[in-house]
Amino acid sequence: MSSNVYGIDLGTCNLKVFCKATGKVLNEKNTIAIINKNQLYAYGDAAYAMYEKAPEHINVTFPVVNGVIADFNNVQNMIFDFIERGSKGKTKGAEYVVAVPTDITEVEKKAFYDMFYKSKVKPKNVQLVEKPIADAVGLGLDVNEPTGVMVVDIGADTTEISVISLGGLVLSDLLHFGGKRIDESIMSYIRHEFNLVIGQKTASVLKENLASGLPGREETMVIVGRDLVSGLPVEMEISAATVYEAIKDNLESICTSIKMILEKTPPELAKDIIHSGIYITGGGSQIKDLDELFTNITNIKVNRCEEPEESVVRGLMAIVSEEKYKHLTFTMKTRIIK
Ligand SMILES: Nc1ncnc2c1ncn2[C@@H]1O[C@H](COP(=O)(O)OP(=O)(O)OP(=O)(O)O)[C@@H](O)[C@H]1O
Ligand SMILES: [Mg+2]
Repeated sequence: MSSNVYGIDLGTCNLKVFCKATGKVLNEKNTIAIINKNQLYAYGDAAYAMYEKAPEHINVTFPVVNGVIADFNNVQNMIFDFIERGSKGKTKGAEYVVAVPTDITEVEKKAFYDMFYKSKVKPKNVQLVEKPIADAVGLGLDVNEPTGVMVVDIGADTTEISVISLGGLVLSDLLHFGGKRIDESIMSYIRHEFNLVIGQKTASVLKENLASGLPGREETMVIVGRDLVSGLPVEMEISAATVYEAIKDNLESICTSIKMILEKTPPELAKDIIHSGIYITGGGSQIKDLDELFTNITNIKVNRCEEPEESVVRGLMAIVSEEKYKHLTFTMKTRIIK
């Protein structure tokens, strides 16, 4: 295989591309800014900088919603420009391996395939991989073994809980919420408790700095919002205890799903999971003390990973580079015949 290979994870919050030639991951916000109804004005981190700040004629959106591509043409333009700009590599005639969510329809999966296959870059090859499988490989787990592993990926719009063995998904539960819903919970709690309106970016910063899976943290942070009564911008100190109260129901929902999957897991695989522990990944897994919370409710140790936003793309690269993982890829044609 040539080195002109790209692994793509089109997340609902972040677009991640692994470039084999440089060995680097490009990671930017999966955001587009549109003007004149349909013209791409900016994308990635540059478009995100405009989010919640743009005048009316610039429409800033996240073009992947619940794992499904909502604006095909602009996402396609963004991806190839992003790769060419970031990796200085050749997109023409390259090989692409793309992660796809498991619970979307075949038509929606085909959109991920066509994004590369039917593009101006005329790819040499396009392969797809189920996202949770790529995730597990990216975490360094040998998914070919007859050993059960449990991976919990807390993304932006989705939280996916999967049990994998022998290269396949044995059980999975996809919750249609993740970090973005947690941000919304923080926004609405602060509005309700303090009559203070804050933006999603501020909520996200509060989450990254103060959110925790267990109560009792003492940090605080000063933020700026708009007072609902006076209508004026004000500064307010927000505590970790407030953020915990805002998000505890969201975390409880994830706990319930983890327990539900564990209850359904066949006993021999459950034995493996108890032995190796639960693996948590995805940007949302960085919430402090989340590992302790999950351990408390399951009595199973929890493993965190480095660079959790990148485990899917790193897995994609391992899958196309190692002969033993080649069977984990599929194309849309082989998929339909199956
Ligand atoms: N330190 C942090 N603490 C808590 N959450 C964080 C932290 N850093 C990033 N996040 C959250 O992680 C999410 C992005 O993670 P990730 O890149 O894994 O999602 P995604 O792959 O784009 O989404 P999905 O998998 O649902 O399509 C965002 O909601 C972001 O706010
Ligand atoms: Mg993701």
